[in-house]
Amino acid sequence: MVTAFIMESEHSKDSKSDPANSKFYDEGADYWAKIEPTVNGMLGGLGYLNNGDIKDSERFLKGVFKTRKSLESSYALDCGAGIGRITKNLLTRFFDKVDLVDQDPKFVAEAKNLLSSNEKVGEFYCSGLQEFSPKEGKYDVIWMQWVLSHVTDDDLLELLKRCSLALKPGGLIVIKENCTKGEKEDVDEDDSSITRPFKGFMDVFAKSGIKVLKYVKQKNFPTDLYPVWIFALDPHPEQL
Ligand SMILES: C[S@@+](CC[C@H](N)C(=O)[O-])C[C@H]1O[C@@H](n2cnc3c(N)ncnc32)[C@H](O)[C@@H]1O
Repeated sequence: MVTAFIMESEHSKDSKSDPANSKFYDEGADYWAKIEPTVNGMLGGLGYLNNGDIKDSERFLKGVFKTRKSLESSYALDCGAGIGRITKNLLTRFFDKVDLVDQDPKFVAEAKNLLSSNEKVGEFYCSGLQEFSPKEGKYDVIWMQWVLSHVTDDDLLELLKRCSLALKPGGLIVIKENCTKGEKEDVDEDDSSITRPFKGFMDVFAKSGIKVLKYVKQKNFPTDLYPVWIFALDPHPEQL
């Protein structure tokens, strides 16, 4: 069932059970290669979540803009962008320019197609986040949503460092991800993903030394799904 990535899984394991990295990434890529390039495909068959997701993200962004005027109308990067659902429905409404990165060539091709008439869309990159280095000093907001369960803790830590360098002064990283309800991560071998508990994210953020500026829980999602949290990270609070 394609919804496995977003449904509360029954395969809880402890944090020592990570598969070998290359197998983990290859199997994730194999899974996404079989998924149709549609909004429904991006949302694990739960396309009806799109509106509520975008609405809450919009509320979150507006809240952030109240205290960070410099972020309005600036440059964003959509990480694990898939077919560009978030770029289209959210980011290009708030930013002057948006770049996208995803590991799946078919999704990147469809994103290019769907966004071809949108002048606010900039570059498309086809790359796994574990090996992607965004250009230094380019972005005001780096958005990562529903992709980090496909990135190991060690690689996430390194990715956060590279993203920090890619931000302009005052820039933020926004992460919106499923979290397990308890303290354990869930390993899903069907789509090769590891869903972290809320604390798992906080531990990685603490290790990175990056300040967590704000976090809120997605409202009004079905209760049988994983809770979804949005985090705003501020790597350079001293530059404000
Ligand atoms: C659940 S979809 C979400 C897409 C988009 N963020 C959205 O919310 O509509 C997950 C996306 O992550 C991408 N992905 C999976 N593993 C990745 C990785 N290691 N690096 C970059 N993208 C990855 C998939 O190709 C897919 O497009």
